[in-house]
Amino acid sequence: MNFFHSIKFKIFVVIVVFFTIMITMHMLYDINMSKKQLNTYLQNLNQSSAKLLNKNVQSDLYNLNYTNVKYTIDSFDNPYFKNIYILNKNGYIFAQRDNDKIMFTKYKDFEKLLNLQNENPLLYFLPVILSKKVVGYLVIENNNEIFEQMIKSKESEILKMFFIFLLVTIVFSYIVSVIITKPINKIINKLKNLDEKEELEFNHNKKDEFGYLAKIIEQNHKKIRDLNENLEIRVKEEVEKNIYKEKQLFEAQKMASMGEMIGNIAHQWRQPLSVISTGSTAIKLKKELDVLDDKDLLETCEIINENAQYLSKTIDDFKNFIKGDKKLINFNLKDTIDSFINLVNPSIKNNNIELILNIKENININGYPNELHQCMINIFNNAKDALLNIDETRLVFIDTLLQDNNAIIKIKDNAGGIPEDVMPKIFEPYFTTKHKSQGTGLGLHMTYNLIVDSMGGTIEANNVKYKYNDESYIGAEFTIRLPLS
Ligand SMILES: Nc1ncnc2c1ncn2[C@@H]1O[C@H](COP(=O)(O)OP(=O)(O)O)[C@@H](O)[C@H]1O
Ligand SMILES: [Mg+2]
Repeated sequence: MNFFHSIKFKIFVVIVVFFTIMITMHMLYDINMSKKQLNTYLQNLNQSSAKLLNKNVQSDLYNLNYTNVKYTIDSFDNPYFKNIYILNKNGYIFAQRDNDKIMFTKYKDFEKLLNLQNENPLLYFLPVILSKKVVGYLVIENNNEIFEQMIKSKESEILKMFFIFLLVTIVFSYIVSVIITKPINKIINKLKNLDEKEELEFNHNKKDEFGYLAKIIEQNHKKIRDLNENLEIRVKEEVEKNIYKEKQLFEAQKMASMGEMIGNIAHQWRQPLSVISTGSTAIKLKKELDVLDDKDLLETCEIINENAQYLSKTIDDFKNFIKGDKKLINFNLKDTIDSFINLVNPSIKNNNIELILNIKENININGYPNELHQCMINIFNNAKDALLNIDETRLVFIDTLLQDNNAIIKIKDNAGGIPEDVMPKIFEPYFTTKHKSQGTGLGLHMTYNLIVDSMGGTIEANNVKYKYNDESYIGAEFTIRLPLS
């Protein structure tokens, strides 16, 4: 915090300014008073001296006895009196203390003096009266140098006091500002370094405002801490709940695609099973009729075996598909795609879909093959659903390629693409444009999680326009990008 913005500084300034103003005012008052006192003193001195002089020179002035008058005024050699004049009734100087010569000139500004009487504090004027008649005038000129010197020394004394007071004020204000702000600073420092989990205790026992403030802060901190703790627990609970929900979603989605898959498999098995049962029934019948030759037997066994192999392969793929992966393994992409094709083959045939493959042989990926399998089935099923809406040729393209140390899988259809307003939402859970009985809105969400979160890859969807066999098509293209290592 900037010192000049602190309360400490403000308190300091306020006290210093306040006392400085007070002291200055007092100082000015003091100087003024001293001047007044000095004036009064001079006035009194002048007055009493003049009265005395007046008495002493009255008759001598009347008799124009210069020697006596001069003698009398000479005896008043008080340093406050610069000079003393005795004027005759017309204002001419009869005698003066500081000049022995007889000058007989008119006193300067005599008329003014006569009119204004005693206006000037440094000049005292008094008519000398004998038997009710003015016989002359008495003028005392005060020594204004002494006067000024006295004022000056008084002023310097007051000034000295002023600076001492100022110093004391500064020290005093500083101490007061420190005393006032110390508890606040203590609170601030404690709060500044406070860990949100830490318990807060100020140990401020005083029952003043700061004690009250400290107590309120302590209480509020405790409230926030409790709230935080609760929040943490609640967030944890919610996250756990979410994970659980997500798991359930996966299961639900898997069950859904499994159901579809079983339907397909049942359909797919019908033919090989009937081949097997027809073959075995035929050789049994031939044996009973004793017309079974070795060639027939071998051929039929061959056919039964072939079909049984096929059934076994399908059931293996299906088993792998529902098993899911727990372990990261290095697998060949083409193998995974082959078993994927084996699983979706019935669906392709039933729905008149033409599958166009462009698969690179030797791409090996570190990941979860069955999960990838699942992802491809989700994408394929969406393509199939979309293709069911069109009557023209139904196409699905699967391409794999290598690019910048990534394996790329592209799955594309010609069903017209994903509408622009639907596109941003397709990876959200429960987003579906299909009828309740058809869509769960989970397939792409699950696919996204498996590709991005589990395998560290990316997935994106685009609408593409392309040519195939000189025909133009529009469709959705999903691009999966998986890091090789
Ligand atoms: N190939 C595609 N062509 C057109 N629309 C698609 C395609 N793939 C996905 N979609 C859209 O994405 C939505 C979400 O798909 P998905 O998450 O698999 O949920 P579901 O298939 O249950 O609707 C679908 O409802 C559909 O509208
Ligand atoms: Mg789907």
